[in-house]
Amino acid sequence: MTVSLKYKKYSRLFTLIAFSLLSNLLFAQQDMDAKVQELLNKMTIEEKAGQMTQVTIDLILKDGSNYEIDTEKLKHAIVDMHVGSILNVKGHAYSMDTWHTILEAVQKTAVEATPNHIPILYGIDAIHGPNYLQGATLFPHNTGMAATRNTELVKEAAHITAQQTRASGITWDFDPVLGLARQPLWPRFEETFGEDVYLVSQMGAAAISGYEQEDLRSNTAVASCMKHYIGYSLPLSGKDRTPAYIPEYILREYLLPPFEAAVKAGASTAMINSGEINGIPVHASKYYLTDILRGELGFEGVAVSDWEDVIRLHTRHRVADSPKEAVRMAVEAGLDMSMVPFDYSFYNYLVQLVKEGAITEKRLDESVARILKLKFRLGLFDDPYPNKKLAAKLNTESFDKYALQAALESMTLLKNDDNVLPLPANAKILLAGPTAHNVTSLHSSWSYTWTGEDESQYPTTTLTIKEAFEKALGAENVICSATRDFAAAANYDVGQLKKDAAEVDYIVLCLGEKAYAEGLGVIDDLNLDAPQLELAQAAIATGKKVILVLVEGRPRLISSIEPKIPGILMAYRPSTMGAQAITDVLLGNYNPSGKLPFTYPARSGDIVMYDHKGTEVFREDGPGDYGDGGFRPMFPFGHGLSYTTFTYNDLQVSASAFRPEDILTVTVKVSNTGSRKGSQAVELYSRDLYATVTPSVKRLRKFKKVELAAGETKTVRFTVSAKDLAFVGEDGKWITESGDFEIWIGDQKTSIRYDQNTSGTR
Ligand code: BGC
Repeated sequence: MTVSLKYKKYSRLFTLIAFSLLSNLLFAQQDMDAKVQELLNKMTIEEKAGQMTQVTIDLILKDGSNYEIDTEKLKHAIVDMHVGSILNVKGHAYSMDTWHTILEAVQKTAVEATPNHIPILYGIDAIHGPNYLQGATLFPHNTGMAATRNTELVKEAAHITAQQTRASGITWDFDPVLGLARQPLWPRFEETFGEDVYLVSQMGAAAISGYEQEDLRSNTAVASCMKHYIGYSLPLSGKDRTPAYIPEYILREYLLPPFEAAVKAGASTAMINSGEINGIPVHASKYYLTDILRGELGFEGVAVSDWEDVIRLHTRHRVADSPKEAVRMAVEAGLDMSMVPFDYSFYNYLVQLVKEGAITEKRLDESVARILKLKFRLGLFDDPYPNKKLAAKLNTESFDKYALQAALESMTLLKNDDNVLPLPANAKILLAGPTAHNVTSLHSSWSYTWTGEDESQYPTTTLTIKEAFEKALGAENVICSATRDFAAAANYDVGQLKKDAAEVDYIVLCLGEKAYAEGLGVIDDLNLDAPQLELAQAAIATGKKVILVLVEGRPRLISSIEPKIPGILMAYRPSTMGAQAITDVLLGNYNPSGKLPFTYPARSGDIVMYDHKGTEVFREDGPGDYGDGGFRPMFPFGHGLSYTTFTYNDLQVSASAFRPEDILTVTVKVSNTGSRKGSQAVELYSRDLYATVTPSVKRLRKFKKVELAAGETKTVRFTVSAKDLAFVGEDGKWITESGDFEIWIGDQKTSIRYDQNTSGTR
């Protein structure tokens, strides 16, 4: 009786609190809507077109300067042209003070010299840490972050990035990239969370919640930008910004879900794909920008173009016969803001189009309302200025700690024949190759400069692999003739390598890719460059034990050298703490736990993903024919070794048959059967045995990372419902069809049966 009374009292209290929170929220929302409407009522067509215009910082800087504001140009942009948003750095990262000076001048002009005092939304690419802030610690690029299989780390890295970005006075970050890495030639591969749709969705959502926090007004939050919507990562040719051909069901089953998850996670903005799908440029497509993005995904935020992409509907895609028509097309398709960025053409054409009646003012109001709402949500109307106190409060030491943890967890041990690794503590090693003493390849794109190529912009404390090894083993135990310049002939000197090898037991060969960004990373051969392969052959010929460290943004083919190399470590683009992480793993100070977020192909004619269909396996396959028939990767998705061993036992599912509303519990026991502590990403895969659209052989459905002491066993639990096993049917709709499914974790496998026609009781 007392219990039930108490329960009633508390439940009433909770209802009251929930009700008052909800009504506060509703009130705040109504209040914001009213304020936005009030502004819209006062704004001219010019002011509205200006809000939809984003220009690059170059337009407000003094001629010849990389960072000094030209007050006349600034006034012209904000007062005469009414621009609502500015982006970017010129040339290289700025100091916190420079950012403050820039943002103060920008916001002062916006709120003091314009009739409606609307603050500027400043946007930046802080892609793997605050890469345009001088001296900042950078995290591994997303391929590495995905290899950690640690969503909490991804969230924390985003939060750390947000704190520093906000402390510089910037409130908008053009991240995360949500494309799927299924075209390894594509030069932005390193910016993705890998090839799997579930992994990308989970990691992307984690990053967004790290950026945006609970409330965008927070001193540690920034607006995120899910990008590049949609289909950018799948150019048929592999060249950047070239056409993609994507069947509707692939679009819906593979490419849309990360964006759907991002909208649910609260992404405030979206950036549009510069490319085209099935011949239709995405910037001109009402289907993608309005029907799907708004109508189906329910996205209510701001959709911004990518760099110069509106005018490119005319100059490159040739679907608009004039620059003005390009503006009309993009705006009518549903674009809210154009990253113009070098002139005011978008603004001028838009004003003309509205005055001529080709675009209604009502259409402008929709976009401007979204932009203003975001400015309100960010608290910019209350205080647009950088809060200088925030910078002083930043705990940069903890940032280094997280960046090291992320780099360590990203390290993926691909091969360790006869336990050649870890290296013995008293090892004398030869380090060779272009990435051995090179800082920029450890970071690549968006690192202090756009391409990350300019070493002079890096903090002097950033170690190369050579320096990290010297620190760990003593300079006397490390022989290295490699130089800091990736392209220098000395880094490929076979004769020198042979000479140096005479004195050592191990050759740590550091190969991979130079730093690059976007189109500058285009290649026409996935094989690792010939001089690097020759160096590797020379290392192998010495008869010493060769360990290969791959510092690269995408899986460059190594099948000609791999058979003779007993140890291979994939380091991705590990960034600031990368050299230390590589050294710690090779020396056994850290037990690696990274798992490949993509399939590492063996041959250029065999680019097949782990979740391929059964029909992708070569049909006429037979003994002496093509071998495994179509899927023979060098290393599959999910591969990654440890210095300890794990076994799986006792896979249990709460029921062997399930129905639409059922939630199954799947458990498995994971044991560390080796002699040292280790972490393991436990991955649950499924297979739909028969389906009306040819099913994949394997799909990742859940993952969880666990740490196990030597000898320890843990039970890992997942829930699985019909929705988790669904696919997109012939009619373009999601469906789980009745029938048998296999579920497996490690080497444990079981079957479950689904009946879509009966309703569950739970
Ligand atoms: C890239 C975007 C980036 C934008 C602004 C473009 O070239 O594709 O990812 O956000 O530039 O720097």
